[in-house]
Amino acid sequence: MDVPPSAASQDASPDDDPFYDVYDREQPAYGMTPSAELAAYLRQCHPAGRALDLGAGGGRDTLELARAGLQVVAIDRSQRGLDLVMRRAEASGLAARVTTQAMDVQDCQLEPNAYRVIVATTVLDHIPMPASRRLWQQMVAALQERGAMYVEVHTSDDPGSSYGAGAQRQGPVSETASHVINHFPPNRLLQMAIETPGLRVLRYEERAEWDYTHGPEHLHAKAVLLATKATLSPDWYGYPAAFTRRGK
Ligand SMILES: C[S@@+](CC[C@H](N)C(=O)[O-])C[C@H]1O[C@@H](n2cnc3c(N)ncnc32)[C@H](O)[C@@H]1O
Repeated sequence: MDVPPSAASQDASPDDDPFYDVYDREQPAYGMTPSAELAAYLRQCHPAGRALDLGAGGGRDTLELARAGLQVVAIDRSQRGLDLVMRRAEASGLAARVTTQAMDVQDCQLEPNAYRVIVATTVLDHIPMPASRRLWQQMVAALQERGAMYVEVHTSDDPGSSYGAGAQRQGPVSETASHVINHFPPNRLLQMAIETPGLRVLRYEERAEWDYTHGPEHLHAKAVLLATKATLSPDWYGYPAAFTRRGK
């Protein structure tokens, strides 16, 4: 569901919010379709408790987490995006499960062992790599024993990348491409997960996606990771779902 921008309650200003414009629309950027692998995990594994959505934007993943019954904290630098998250949560009857915090993720001090699910959909690539690695370490420490994390980053295959295969690509880039300042080289996100003690990779993929949710059609190249604490062995998980249990 998309909710039109409301003039009330907003003290956000376009001047200090580079994403103000893309959330200040009748059809805000990034749409409402949640990240597919995250949605499948929530549907199949039923995690309960607290969740964190870093760089939540307009809230498509925040709302999916809340819909799954989790109590979600949505963090973003864009107050305009967070206002949209709350309006969408209210319109869906999920406001009691969502709180928002406007801040730079680089300033986060995440409480250890606090969250059952942590999501960072295209934000680790919006901050420099050293900051991205520091935030990653915090995310891992903040994950509970039966926790799962979902992460997406743009890779150097993206047409907005100044190096790697993306730099050779002709074609339109996203209107917010200039805010991606840290394109991950191929396999880097996977490598970070594998080199992190105590994590288990459930799914990793590098892919290209056509995006029609903002501006003219354009391509993104992404790395997508779903990982859990190594102690978690889901009863059943697959994306796409395979060998499903009868009657479920
Ligand atoms: C490409 S959008 C993705 C939004 C959302 N996760 C989604 O997938 O729909 C990137 C988001 O990260 C936020 N962002 C970028 N850099 C940030 C930072 N340093 N701290 C907090 N949020 C940031 C932007 O405001 C924007 O909402």
